[in-house]
Amino acid sequence: MEDSFINTVVKLHKTKNWRDIIQNYHDHPERNKLLWVYPSEENLDFLKKSLADLKCDNILSIGCGSGLLEWIIGEATGFPLKGIEVDGVWWQCKYAPPTFIPLLFTSPELDKDTISILQNGGTTALLFCYFNNRPAFENYLNVFSGNVIVIIGPGEGTGVHTDPLPFDDVSNDWTLYKWQEVRSSKDFICIYIRSNNNARNEM
Ligand SMILES: C[S@@+](CC[C@H](N)C(=O)[O-])C[C@H]1O[C@@H](n2cnc3c(N)ncnc32)[C@H](O)[C@@H]1O
Repeated sequence: MEDSFINTVVKLHKTKNWRDIIQNYHDHPERNKLLWVYPSEENLDFLKKSLADLKCDNILSIGCGSGLLEWIIGEATGFPLKGIEVDGVWWQCKYAPPTFIPLLFTSPELDKDTISILQNGGTTALLFCYFNNRPAFENYLNVFSGNVIVIIGPGEGTGVHTDPLPFDDVSNDWTLYKWQEVRSSKDFICIYIRSNNNARNEM
């Protein structure tokens, strides 16, 4: 049977109608087939302004899945965006959900290309949305040269767990800069900056 939710989103993607996707499908019962968190326009403005204030000029999303969130953020904010996924076999097989941006694939140990992108990430914001792999999270941060990370995930009491969680779950190397709830969903967008980074004091 045709999957009408997915087909509708694919059509809206083709016509670049990201507003309809976030307005009409953020609470669709099948939404998690494509994405865990559908931000509001207010959330997208918050992200755009915060990252611009922090002098970021691009976003690298780790564990981007279908890339739907990344495509929406790119359209709404104008930031160039790349998405990295680990499971190349799954995402390229015929049963996988559609993808909305070209995905970059890495091995779990991080291959040379991925390391190079992370090491050249001085003005990059590193995004983790519903990421759930602590050792990999630490590996990415160990190599990342930039000063801004964004963690999107569930707040307390939702019954859903991610690793990292959005609050109080990163090392002291990172300081919470700003956060915003995604609508009234109990999902949160948390922006962290590298601790003791003098450049940040200019804000
Ligand atoms: C719960 S899904 C979230 C997907 C997407 N960000 C979203 O919000 O819908 C977590 C994703 O992280 C990916 N992942 C897990 N370990 C990874 C790693 N070491 N590098 C990149 N992606 C990884 C998984 O393949 C999976 O697609």
